Amino acid sequence: MTSHHRIEIENCGTHFRCPENEGVLQAMERQGRRAIPVGCRNGGCGLCLVLVTAGDFKAGPMSRRHVPCGEPAGLALACRVYPQTDLRVRLATDEDRQWSKQQCPAGRDGR
Ligand code: FES
Repeated sequence: MTSHHRIEIENCGTHFRCPENEGVLQAMERQGRRAIPVGCRNGGCGLCLVLVTAGDFKAGPMSRRHVPCGEPAGLALACRVYPQTDLRVRLATDEDRQWSKQQCPAGRDGR
Protein backbone atom coordinates (compact mmCIF):
# COMPACT_ATOMS: atom_id res chain seq x y z
CA MET A 1 0.00 0.00 0.00
CA THR A 2 1.31 3.43 -0.97
CA SER A 3 1.82 5.96 1.79
CA HIS A 4 0.29 9.41 1.40
CA HIS A 5 1.84 12.53 2.85
CA ARG A 6 0.61 16.01 3.62
CA ILE A 7 2.04 18.75 1.41
CA GLU A 8 1.81 22.27 2.78
CA ILE A 9 2.49 25.28 0.55
CA GLU A 10 3.83 28.04 2.82
CA ASN A 11 3.09 30.99 0.55
CA CYS A 12 -0.66 30.52 0.54
CA GLY A 13 -1.51 28.10 3.33
CA THR A 14 -2.80 25.51 0.85
CA HIS A 15 -2.33 21.85 1.68
CA PHE A 16 -3.19 18.56 0.02
CA ARG A 17 -2.26 14.87 0.15
CA CYS A 18 0.28 13.24 -2.15
CA PRO A 19 1.18 9.56 -2.49
CA GLU A 20 4.88 8.64 -2.51
CA ASN A 21 4.70 7.52 -6.12
CA GLU A 22 3.16 10.71 -7.52
CA GLY A 23 4.78 14.07 -8.18
CA VAL A 24 3.70 16.89 -5.87
CA LEU A 25 2.61 19.03 -8.82
CA GLN A 26 0.50 16.25 -10.32
CA ALA A 27 -1.17 15.50 -6.96
CA MET A 28 -1.95 19.20 -6.54
CA GLU A 29 -3.59 19.39 -9.97
CA ARG A 30 -5.54 16.16 -9.49
CA GLN A 31 -7.07 17.64 -6.33
CA GLY A 32 -7.96 20.92 -8.02
CA ARG A 33 -5.44 23.10 -6.19
CA ARG A 34 -3.56 25.91 -7.92
CA ALA A 35 -0.77 26.87 -5.55
CA ILE A 36 2.27 26.02 -7.74
CA PRO A 37 2.67 27.26 -11.35
CA VAL A 38 2.22 24.44 -13.89
CA GLY A 39 4.25 24.12 -17.06
CA CYS A 40 5.66 21.08 -18.85
CA ARG A 41 5.01 18.61 -15.99
CA ASN A 42 8.20 16.90 -17.09
CA GLY A 43 11.11 18.45 -15.17
CA GLY A 44 12.20 20.69 -18.04
CA CYS A 45 10.71 24.19 -17.98
CA GLY A 46 11.48 25.24 -14.39
CA LEU A 47 8.11 26.91 -13.83
CA CYS A 48 7.27 24.72 -10.82
CA LEU A 49 10.53 25.44 -8.94
CA VAL A 50 10.01 25.25 -5.17
CA LEU A 51 12.11 25.18 -2.05
CA VAL A 52 11.39 22.22 0.22
CA THR A 53 11.79 23.69 3.70
CA ALA A 54 10.85 20.58 5.71
CA GLY A 55 10.58 16.86 5.04
CA ASP A 56 12.26 14.27 2.82
CA PHE A 57 11.63 13.50 -0.81
CA LYS A 58 12.98 11.53 -3.74
CA ALA A 59 13.72 13.54 -6.86
CA GLY A 60 13.09 12.40 -10.40
CA PRO A 61 15.14 13.70 -13.34
CA MET A 62 15.23 17.51 -13.40
CA SER A 63 16.73 19.99 -15.83
CA ARG A 64 20.09 21.19 -14.52
CA ARG A 65 19.24 24.56 -16.02
CA HIS A 66 16.90 25.04 -13.07
CA VAL A 67 18.27 22.86 -10.27
CA PRO A 68 22.05 22.67 -9.77
CA CYS A 69 23.76 19.29 -9.63
CA GLY A 70 23.73 17.88 -6.11
CA GLU A 71 21.56 20.74 -4.88
CA PRO A 72 21.71 20.46 -1.07
CA ALA A 73 19.40 23.29 -0.03
CA GLY A 74 16.04 21.86 -1.04
CA LEU A 75 15.45 23.53 -4.41
CA ALA A 76 13.49 21.16 -6.62
CA LEU A 77 10.95 20.99 -9.43
CA ALA A 78 7.60 20.11 -7.88
CA CYS A 79 6.64 17.90 -10.84
CA ARG A 80 9.65 15.70 -9.96
CA VAL A 81 9.32 15.69 -6.17
CA TYR A 82 8.07 12.41 -4.68
CA PRO A 83 7.41 12.85 -0.94
CA GLN A 84 8.77 10.33 1.53
CA THR A 85 7.45 12.26 4.55
CA ASP A 86 5.10 15.20 5.04
CA LEU A 87 6.58 18.19 3.22
CA ARG A 88 6.49 21.91 3.63
CA VAL A 89 7.42 23.88 0.50
CA ARG A 90 7.41 27.47 -0.67
CA LEU A 91 7.44 28.85 -4.17
CA ALA A 92 10.91 29.79 -5.40
CA THR A 93 11.73 33.48 -5.22
CA ASP A 94 13.59 35.46 -7.88
CA GLU A 95 16.65 35.21 -5.61
CA ASP A 96 16.34 31.40 -5.51
CA ARG A 97 16.17 31.28 -9.32
CA GLN A 98 19.13 33.64 -9.68
CA TRP A 99 21.21 31.60 -7.23
CA SER A 100 20.34 28.40 -9.06
CA LYS A 101 21.43 29.85 -12.42
CA GLN A 102 24.74 30.98 -10.95
CA GLN A 103 25.44 27.51 -9.55
CA CYS A 104 24.85 25.65 -12.78
CA PRO A 105 24.88 27.81 -15.93
CA ALA A 106 22.29 26.87 -18.56
CA GLY A 107 23.31 24.14 -20.91
CA ARG A 108 26.46 23.11 -19.08
CA ASP A 109 25.44 19.48 -18.98
CA GLY A 110 23.43 19.60 -22.19
CA ARG A 111 19.98 19.40 -20.55
S1 FES B 1 6.23 21.94 -14.74
FE1 FES B 1 7.97 22.22 -16.03
S2 FES B 1 9.60 21.65 -14.72
FE2 FES B 1 7.83 21.20 -13.53
